[in-house]
This record gives sequence, structure tokens and C-alpha cells, in this order.
Amino acid sequence: MNIAVLSRNPALYSTQSLVQAARRKHHYVRVIDYVNCDIVLDSDSPKILYNGYQLENIDAVIPRIGAGYTSYGSAMIRQFMAAGVYSTLSPHALNAARNKIECLQILASAGLMVPRSLISNNSLFFEDLLSNLDDERAVIKLVNGTHGLGVVLAHDRKQAASIMEAFSKSKSKVFVQEFIEEAGGADVRVFVVDGNIEGVMKRQAKEGEFRSNMHRGASATVIKLTDEEKSVALKAADILGLKIAGVDMLQSKKGPMILEVNASPGLEGIETTTRNDIAGKIIDMIERDTRK
Ligand SMILES: Nc1ncnc2c1ncn2[C@@H]1O[C@H](COP(=O)(O)OP(=O)(O)O)[C@@H](O)[C@H]1O
Ligand SMILES: [Mg+2]
Repeated sequence: MNIAVLSRNPALYSTQSLVQAARRKHHYVRVIDYVNCDIVLDSDSPKILYNGYQLENIDAVIPRIGAGYTSYGSAMIRQFMAAGVYSTLSPHALNAARNKIECLQILASAGLMVPRSLISNNSLFFEDLLSNLDDERAVIKLVNGTHGLGVVLAHDRKQAASIMEAFSKSKSKVFVQEFIEEAGGADVRVFVVDGNIEGVMKRQAKEGEFRSNMHRGASATVIKLTDEEKSVALKAADILGLKIAGVDMLQSKKGPMILEVNASPGLEGIETTTRNDIAGKIIDMIERDTRK
């Protein structure tokens, strides 16, 4: 097969891991910087140009869309799909996963547990709204944040309201969440490929930090999931329409609560922690799906 990894950076671990897995399975594979692709849009012969040359004969794309390029990335995926190319990620699923509020709404509607979240457009009522949380503490988040940046813990309602005001003033979209203290600065990342759990790790924030992102210095260990956690993770990926998903959960006293579902989850942390060949599982899925 002729496979393209849509990635801005061929040197990234995730990109390299996918390229090597495809080569091991005897496919022709290349990395395409989707931001430098152009679209010729019409109804009968949709075209994609890369550095001025038309891209042809690609059977499958594996989109690895960076947080800053969601919109252009989804236009590019849509164009590949219009040209009959198989994609491991649909533009619809990418957009739903990238917007934290939309993602939480979809999960909650499907009956999955998420931290209680408050959304407001009006700074006059922030303090009133905050009274909907049982605890004085609250987590404030950027709607489109990643890597733990723009996730802030406020210790009381006054502080929470002023942080929200500051974000709103700078035109950043934020929302608020109940603080799940018993998670103890840890979360669980479940890597799902094609309806199967292919890797699980628990990430523990470094001392004095509540955000368990690897980019914020957290450390990861392998853990076993409970049956409930397994079924929650699989259902979350399924409901969002993601064939490849990184489901992040907090272990709360009420049970697993989903924080977010990543549409281009990184491979480095999960592959090095679990030693599983997850990129290989992704290539296997492409082989199965394109054979159908
Ligand atoms: N409501 C919460 N209660 C406790 N910890 C939280 C909560 N929300 C986020 N965190 C911690 O902060 C980290 C980053 O939050 P997250 O919503 O995943 O944003 P990002 O997309 O930036 O990773 C999480 O991995 C978790 O450790
Ligand atoms: Mg996260």
C-alpha cells in the first residue's frame, strides 16, 4: 500500500514510529506536511498539491494534526477522503475531540461520567455560576488548550472568578470544572485502536503539581484497568467516532471520569512505557479497513 503520514515534523517520535511500522509491514510510506498542501476544489476531480506537485495514488492517510492546525488539517483530511483515500481520522471526529466543551457534551449525553463543568459567556455572573460547584476549589481551562497549558487550579471562588475574567478579557475561551482532588495529581491514559485497548498508563504529576501531563514533567507507569474503566474508555472512543484515541480519565471516588479524548495521541509515552507496538496496530487496522 501507499501510505502517507500527515505530520508537520518527520523527526517526531510518533511520526517515525508510524513510518517504521509501515515499512516493517512492507508498505511504501512518506511523511506529508499537510500545512504545505494546497487544495483544488471542484466536484469531479478534487486535487491536492504538495510543493506544487499533485499528490496521486495514495491509498491511506494517517493524520497527526497539531493543535494549532485543526481547521486546515480537517480541510485537508476531507479533501483526501473526497479523492477516495482512506483516513484513520475523520474531520468530524477531529473537530469534536479538539473542542473540550463539545467533547464533554457528547460524552455526558452518552451517559459517560465527566467532571461537572460550567460554561459561561458573561463575566458578570461568574461568581454566581461557581456556586454550582460543591467545593470552593475549581479548575479553569482553555477550551482549546493542550499539554496542560491553560489549566489552572483556583483555591476559592473569588480567585476562580478573577482568573476567568482575566482569560475572558484576553479573548481566550475558558470553562470551569470541579476539582477531583482524590485523583491525587494522576490520570490514566488509555490508547484505543479500532475498538481495542492497546496500551494503558498512569501518569503522575511531579511534586507540587496537579497536572499530570508528560509535558509538565509527569512520570508514567503501566497499570491494569478495571472492567468499568475498560468499557468507559472504549465507549468514549466509539461515541466520538475515533478509530485511534487517547482517552484520559481521572480515577474519582464515583468511578472513572473522562477528562478529554485526544484525536492525535502521541506514541512516545505510551510505547516506551508499555513497550507495545501501537504503531504496528494502527497499520494492521489500515490493512483490514482498506481490504474491506
Ligand atoms: N477537574 C480536574 N480535577 C483534577 N485534575 C484535573 C482536572 N482537570 C484537569 N486536571 C489535571 O490537569 C491535567 C491537564 O488537564 P486536561 O484537561 O487534560 O488539559 P490538556 O488538554 O492541556 O492536557 C490532567 O491530565 C489532570 O492531571
Ligand atoms: Mg490532557
